[in-house]
Amino acid sequence: MKKTILGLGAVFIFMASFSKADLEKEKAVATTVAANHAFFQVSAGEKLINKSDCLGCHNKTNKIIGPAYVEVAKKYANTEKNVNYLADKIIKGGTGVWGTMPMTAHATLKKEDAKLMAKYILSLRKK
Ligand code: HEC
Repeated sequence: MKKTILGLGAVFIFMASFSKADLEKEKAVATTVAANHAFFQVSAGEKLINKSDCLGCHNKTNKIIGPAYVEVAKKYANTEKNVNYLADKIIKGGTGVWGTMPMTAHATLKKEDAKLMAKYILSLRKK
């Protein structure tokens, strides 16, 4: 009788450790899938920029009429305050920060959409 209980205990411990290893494996797979997903996903902000007129004056890595987005990301840390400032600037337009060329206003843009654009631009900052 004692032996049976001991035997069952051993089987139980074996099963428990086995399923724990499985869980770790599953977690690792899930992390990899999530990372790949983030890598290939086009952010909402980038999609909005592609749909708007931004690319006529801005390029991700090269200055055209306006500064390259990577330069903007270098200048401003990715904080809520800067996202707000840039979203307002995108909507109202303006000049004087990067030179004398003005950025046109985008008065019909929703603040939330402008913020998504600003977040995408600031996400281009090299870590
Ligand atoms: C007519 C050309 C033009 C268009 C269209 C344009 N920009 Fe700009 N953008 C500029 C110029 C020029 C500047 C620099 C303004 C300055 O020096 O203050 C600028 C600056 C910026 C900045 C940095 C602002 C700052 O104060 O540092 C951001 C962010 C930006 N643009 C995003 C956008 C987005 C997003 C769009 C599309 C919705 C857009 N721009 C469309 C010309 C343009």
